[in-house]
Amino acid sequence: MAQKIIIDNDPGHDDAINLLLALASGELELLGITCVHGNVGLDRTTLNTLKILELAGKNVSVYAGADRPLLRDPINAESVHGKSGLEGPVLPNPTLALKSQRAAEFIVQSVLEYPNEVILVPTGPLTNIALALRLEPKIAPLIPQMVIMGGSTDFGNFSPAAEFNILADPHAASIVFSSGVPIVMFGLNVTHQVLATPARVDKFRQLGSKVAEAVVSLLEFFKLSYEKRYQFAGPALHDPCTVAYLLRPELFKLREMNVEIELGAGPSFGQTVCDVWGVTGKVKNARVAIEADADGFFELLLERVGRY
Ligand code: BDR
Ligand code: CA
Repeated sequence: MAQKIIIDNDPGHDDAINLLLALASGELELLGITCVHGNVGLDRTTLNTLKILELAGKNVSVYAGADRPLLRDPINAESVHGKSGLEGPVLPNPTLALKSQRAAEFIVQSVLEYPNEVILVPTGPLTNIALALRLEPKIAPLIPQMVIMGGSTDFGNFSPAAEFNILADPHAASIVFSSGVPIVMFGLNVTHQVLATPARVDKFRQLGSKVAEAVVSLLEFFKLSYEKRYQFAGPALHDPCTVAYLLRPELFKLREMNVEIELGAGPSFGQTVCDVWGVTGKVKNARVAIEADADGFFELLLERVGRY
């Protein structure tokens, strides 16, 4: 039986590739896609999600969620993803429409309908997930797992200490990380191991399909900021690590530890404080990815994109 999941995202180049990976994978049953503010505003993240579904030729329900963080002022990542959030490819206009139900309500309803069966996969700020947990606290023990892209065991990207998804709503992240739901965390420490180098991108180019062409354009635009800021050989595929993990957990090495979110005002605001060595003795609330088999990851992604 396929694994039921809900992806909560803010496309975003890497969110878009994550969706394409999930949509091509019969092992997963995508109950719905919820959208959140993040890389760009909610109006764009919802539109971008619908455009990716159109490109993929798939019909999945899409729900709009929070258009701002719980408490802090909004930030965005237009500097990385461009004004639209998906600069690069020319994408088809959507024929699907958004559902009227709000994201948090849809998450609550799905978890109650399928207790212990729905894995949540958030790849943007955690506002929708925190709202769902607050809306119906009964759902926390009924969620078997959350596979999150966010945080880092060491450095940040939007501040020296904080990764974008967590920094964009640290209060929501704190609610999620203290919810008791088993968490698998993909932070920058591991996603920066998964780089779309020119040789890897060429293999997607050779596929020649419409979807593969879009993936190449996404990667070509996405690489610009990675060359400029990090001098990397290609962009880091943060978000697709989540779905790749669900499909092939053996591609990643995880380590269990306590993770809490720094909420104090100051240079570490939004940091995922990772107790790698267990010095606090606090409960190990997350399994944190520390190593990726990047070649294996790209083999999987190439094979799945090749299905379109
Ligand atoms: C995360 O931030 C966003 O820009 C990406 O989509 C990813 O989810 C990486 O820090
Ligand atoms: Ca994202």
